[in-house]
Amino acid sequence: MSNSQERTQNQSWGGRFTEATDAFVEAFTASVQFDQRLYHHDIAGSIAHATMLEKVGVLTTAERDSIVSGLEQVRGEIEAGDFNWSISLEDVHMNVEARLTALIGDTGKKLHTGRSRNDQVATDMRLYLRDEIDVIADELKRLQTGLLDLADREADTIMPGFTHLQTAQPVTFGHHLMAWFEMLCRDAERLQDCRKRVNIMPLGAAALAGTTYPIDRDYTAELLGFERASRNSLDSVSDRDFAIEFCAFGSLLMTHLSRFSEELVLWTSAQFNFIDLPDRFCTGSSIMPQKKNPDVPELVRGKTGRVNGHLISLLTLMKSQPLAYNKDNQEDKEPLFDCIDTLKGCLRSYADMIPALQANKESMREAAMRGYSTATDLADYAVRKGIPFRDAHEIVGKAVAFGIQENKDLSELTLQELQQFSDIIEQDVFDVLTLEGSVNARDHLGGTAPAQVRKAVTAARSLI
Ligand code: ARG
Repeated sequence: MSNSQERTQNQSWGGRFTEATDAFVEAFTASVQFDQRLYHHDIAGSIAHATMLEKVGVLTTAERDSIVSGLEQVRGEIEAGDFNWSISLEDVHMNVEARLTALIGDTGKKLHTGRSRNDQVATDMRLYLRDEIDVIADELKRLQTGLLDLADREADTIMPGFTHLQTAQPVTFGHHLMAWFEMLCRDAERLQDCRKRVNIMPLGAAALAGTTYPIDRDYTAELLGFERASRNSLDSVSDRDFAIEFCAFGSLLMTHLSRFSEELVLWTSAQFNFIDLPDRFCTGSSIMPQKKNPDVPELVRGKTGRVNGHLISLLTLMKSQPLAYNKDNQEDKEPLFDCIDTLKGCLRSYADMIPALQANKESMREAAMRGYSTATDLADYAVRKGIPFRDAHEIVGKAVAFGIQENKDLSELTLQELQQFSDIIEQDVFDVLTLEGSVNARDHLGGTAPAQVRKAVTAARSLI
């Protein structure tokens, strides 16, 4: 990056100025440090624009050909790392255009006919985000597939289900994983819904009011794969709703990943010991030799904060802007870009990590045994024998208190011991007091029975 050029007036807009921009102001107002990542989409947009200008007769065929091959050369230079980005050229758009003109001469100066950086940057952002959405959608799907495979493998594994983080009722681990899967399904839907509103073309709005040239916006939209051209020029150059929506999607996705992370962190602790994460997703401690820390889930949980921050940044950026374009909008880029990078990193690490997760079935089972997790099943049993639910609740409460005093699970009490609490209890009670009996009994749509988990996995495979 250079700003060592002579301090002269900016060539793109310096005509009406009588002194050069202050050096600090130049660097302060520049965006090329971060918007150069738009180069590929900027050039694609320019090629489509030039192609349209030739179609409507604003450029000659020779001019268009020269512009298109010049732009391709610029792209080649950037990709080869051979491009000298200049801060005095402010942003990616003017850097590319200046290089084009250096390469092909005055014809390069005709590219900007009938457009403005205002509609150009809005177009670039949408093209760029559209591609990143497709990458993120693929990573999300890879994570979902990993969850389905794991849920299938762990359909019969029993663990305690929690409410208030207190043992509640036994559930299958596969069922728990399918709850995560459902959250991600909503994220995937939200992302596709957001993509619809990203995929609208602002180009042609020019600075704010449209242009006097006979442009064919439908044609440019078609060339760039947009669903349609935008309908109002003022809205086109000022709208950043699409970026906000994407960050809102990102915040919810991160909320989900953060919740998963919290569980993984708890479950890998010695106190839970429900799962093992492979060493490659963990790190050690420089002082405590025994440590294996679940860094990846912890970091993902922590990164939720920055994505939430980006959403608030963008909302605040837009809240007081009068129509149409304002320089404020240059501040849309860093939050959006960092949101994209963060989501990609978090999804990638999760998609890699989830299939490698090992369940400690014995620990899960023991934990489910320890917490009187089949107490509700005993109450339901009593209800089936004619006891009103509230009375059944009372009976089982007393049985649990007795179990705690004797240091025994309900299934470890003898029939005689159980019968002290109600004489309707018979030998068949032990069918419902086992963990398997408990989960198998919840055999309906959305229930935790292994058979239902397998059904849910099969149905989900055709969903994604
Ligand atoms: N770098 C600017 C941005 O990101 C490009 C648009 C500049 N337009 C203008 N009228 N100064 O928003």
